Formats: sequence, structure tokens, C-alpha cells
Amino acid sequence: MTLAEYHTLRPVSTPAGRLFTKPGVRGAADPAYDLLARSLEAYGERALDLNPGAGRVTLALLGQGLQVRAVETSRAALRCLEASFGRAVEVVCGLPWEVEPGWADLVALVLPAHRGSRYVELSLLGAARALRPGGRLYLAGSKERGFESYFRLAQAMLGYGLLLKREGPLRAAVLEKEHPPPPLPAPWQSFTARVRGRTLRFAHLPGVFSAGKLDAGSALLLAHLPEEGLGRVLDLGAGYGALSLPLVGQAEALTLLEDDWPSVLSAQENLGEQACVLHSDVDEALTPQARFTTIVSNPPFHVGGTVVLESAAAFIEAAYARLERGGKFYLVANRFLPYEPLLLERFGRVRTLAEEGYKVLLAQRTG
Ligand SMILES: C[S@@+](CC[C@H](N)C(=O)[O-])C[C@H]1O[C@@H](n2cnc3c(N)ncnc32)[C@H](O)[C@@H]1O
Repeated sequence: MTLAEYHTLRPVSTPAGRLFTKPGVRGAADPAYDLLARSLEAYGERALDLNPGAGRVTLALLGQGLQVRAVETSRAALRCLEASFGRAVEVVCGLPWEVEPGWADLVALVLPAHRGSRYVELSLLGAARALRPGGRLYLAGSKERGFESYFRLAQAMLGYGLLLKREGPLRAAVLEKEHPPPPLPAPWQSFTARVRGRTLRFAHLPGVFSAGKLDAGSALLLAHLPEEGLGRVLDLGAGYGALSLPLVGQAEALTLLEDDWPSVLSAQENLGEQACVLHSDVDEALTPQARFTTIVSNPPFHVGGTVVLESAAAFIEAAYARLERGGKFYLVANRFLPYEPLLLERFGRVRTLAEEGYKVLLAQRTG
């Protein structure tokens, strides 16, 4: 798949109409979204979709004649939402707990369980804050990913709740806001780790990759990077900056690209003025001319909890396209992930620098 193909939006038909999606975007064919879309009933005038992804539930809300606001974190998903709905929906890049209090008559939320319990809790709190008194929260998720306990938590935050549908492990429910929600806790967390001879503090919002500790694969990659000659460094899929913060003072310049907004905010918090952090689906936020001496990446292989390799394949394509001649691409991955053939096809040669649970691969652009 070429980068142009990766970035091409694809139309999908749903019972409620057409949507655009693309690789790396969750929700277009997810049965939890489908269940929530089928469980909703119009209530009031203003509806908020707090986890829209490709917009399957947003479309159902629009079909109910509601004024819809969709708050999304993924750059790729935001592009799809804008293409699918144009001005018919207010598409907002934001955090699900930083909402306008009391704005919504109805909130729809597919539980973002793959992002961890703290992120789900804050999303539920966001829903509770966004609703006006008497407003309704429509919720869907899987009992295999904590639906029952999140439903109980939502009841504690809002009030009365009713289970609407069960389909296999999936559940949909509706709750009514009977009392004011609890206060919003401070979302930021931090930890320290010793990396490349220094003790560093990493701050992050909930729901980011490897929250609370440095990923062992990322640490292995850092241990195999040279101390000198890194030049201009690009960090592809940067998360909260785990690979970049240790390179401050060693790289000539640092650019971080990240699709997820809480991760972007976390990386900006960690790196401040010392790097350029961009909200980007792969390399789309870079200027066409931008080239780098070194590219580092621990590529994603999950989208909404499902293993998907298309984004990682696009990372490899982008790394090749963005390296200057002689530039090096360092990639770390779980050993079971088949990246070598992709790297070989694009770079002609790939070296394994380490294999300890994870593998660190190096490919150099010679042409
Ligand atoms: C395995 S994590 C690595 C994060 C960080 N580099 C580290 O080492 O801790 C992969 C990162 O890629 C990001 N990501 C996923 N799809 C992306 C895309 N299409 N464009 C840019 N970043 C993406 C994820 O949000 C995640 O932060």
C-alpha cells in the first residue's frame, strides 16, 4: 500500500447512510458502534458524541434530527468526520472530559475501554458534566471489557440507568442525569525513568500508550541509538515523547508526529520549546520538503483494541520518503510483528540490532 492509498478516504455504507473511513480509524465496522446507533432515540435538541471515531453514532444522531457536536482525538478520524459531515456536524478536536458544562440534552459514548479505566472514567465524567440536568447518556460497550462496572460507575455519577439491549457480549444502556456530577480530578500523571544515563520525568494524560512507565520496547530502542550524529530527528507515532525526551541535547532538532490528541498534549508538556510536536496522521502534517537524518519509531499495531498493520506499513513508507540520503530508520516492535519484509521491500536491506522480547531493526536509505 502506498502512502497515497493509505491517506485515501473510503466510502462505507451504513443503514443510516454513507460515511468516509480510512486505515487507522476506529468505529466504521465496530459492532459496539452499530449497537449504540440502533439503540438511540432522539431526546431534546443538542447531542454530543464523545467517542465518534468514523462517525457511525454521529450519523445516527443526525438522522434523529438533533444538532450534533462530535469530540474526537484522532487526527485521522477528524479528517473522516469532516469529510462525512461537512458543516452538518460541529466536529471538535478535544479531550472528552473538557466539555462545555450543561450544553447537551443527550450524550452518546461508546466506552473507550482499550484506553484504560482512567480514560473511561474521565470520559464518563465528561459525559456527566456535558449533560444538562435531566439529560440522557446513551452508553455501549462489551461486558468482556468492563461494561458492567463502567455502567455502575456511570449510575453513581448520574443517576437512574436502564439496560436497553444485549447482543452477545455487547450491551447498550441509557442513564438520566439526576444529580450534579462529582468534581473533575486533575488528569495529569507523571513518572520518572532512568534513560541514556539521565533520570527523566515524563508527564502524560490518561489513555496514552505505556502510561505510568517507559515501554520496554522503547527503552530497548533508546539503548541502541548512537549518542552522536543523530542530526535532525523525526519521532513517528511519538506518544508522550518517550523516544524524544531522552534525545534532547543529542539531536540537532526534534520533530514529533502523533495522531492522538492526549498524546500530543503530553509530548508538548514534556518537550516544550525543545521540539516541534505536530498532531498528524503519519506524516501528513509535515511540509512536502521536510527531510530527516534519523527517524525513530515504535509503530502502532492496534486500532481501538484490534491488531491492524496498515498504520505500521504507512509508517515504513513515510520513513523512507522522509529520510535524507544515508539517513537511518530505527524501529522497535514485538518479535511477532512481520516488519522485515516491508522494510526489505522499501530499503533493500534491514539489520537486526537487538532481539530481547522486542526487536530493534535498522534500515538505511542509500538512494
Ligand atoms: C506503540 S506507541 C509508541 C509511542 C511512543 N513512541 C513510545 O515509544 O512510547 C505508537 C504511537 O503511534 C500513535 N499513532 C497511531 N496511529 C498513528 C498515525 N496514523 N499517525 C501518527 N501516530 C499514530 C499512537 O497514538 C501511539 O502513541
